[in-house]
Amino acid sequence: MNVLYVYAHQEPKSFNSSMKDTALEAFEERGDSVKVSDLYAMNFDPVLDENDFKNRKYTDIFNPFLEQLHANKTDGFAPDIKAEMDKINWADMLIFQFPIYFTGFPAIMKGWIDRVFSPGFAFNPLTQSAYETGLLKGKKSMLVTTAGADKDWYSKGGMHGDIHELLKSITHCTLEFTGLEVLPTHVVYGASNLSEDDAKKELERYRELILSL
Ligand SMILES: Cc1cc2nc3c(=O)[nH]c(=O)nc-3n(C[C@H](O)[C@H](O)[C@H](O)COP(=O)(O)O)c2cc1C
Repeated sequence: MNVLYVYAHQEPKSFNSSMKDTALEAFEERGDSVKVSDLYAMNFDPVLDENDFKNRKYTDIFNPFLEQLHANKTDGFAPDIKAEMDKINWADMLIFQFPIYFTGFPAIMKGWIDRVFSPGFAFNPLTQSAYETGLLKGKKSMLVTTAGADKDWYSKGGMHGDIHELLKSITHCTLEFTGLEVLPTHVVYGASNLSEDDAKKELERYRELILSL
């Protein structure tokens, strides 16, 4: 299996970094091929703007949606976007690993989606059957996230509510919208305060998940 591992954490000594390394080792053990988009290390630009396009179709007014459609027809994306699209085309599975920020992606990962998951590349624009005809159909995806909060905050009836419901704007409205099959989200709760022992257990739990994919 070819895996694109999209990763967002700034610090190589973080728990998130240990999780990423654990996953990469487990994929190697499985014999899978992995490409990593380490967004902070790449200094990935998360802002969708005019610089995304080599040649604009409409120069009097900037319409990002129409420019993305045009760029997909004319090979008109900036090289950093094209490079990510090539990785997606190569991949059978996309994994997004991130520390949860305000119950969603960190901005750098949201920006990766904004710029790379464009109409005509990832999703079928303006159709009632977008979910059935998503352009990434046939590939799998999974969210892997760490939360500072404990599980009871993110449970049904808890302070924040059920994390899986809250993440539906990503799992359903973003990933499934593009036709991706979405595997259950892997969450590590209380990640800011893990004891050494609990951190080890969590890394092992993640390793087993990757080995079982
Ligand atoms: C800007 C920001 C927003 C955050 N928002 C949340 C949040 O909404 N829910 C939560 O449980 N933790 C939140 N956190 C805590 C991080 O998710 C937590 O520190 C991280 O998952 C721990 O992993 P690490 O040790 O690898 O950094 C936030 C942290 C930051 C910096």
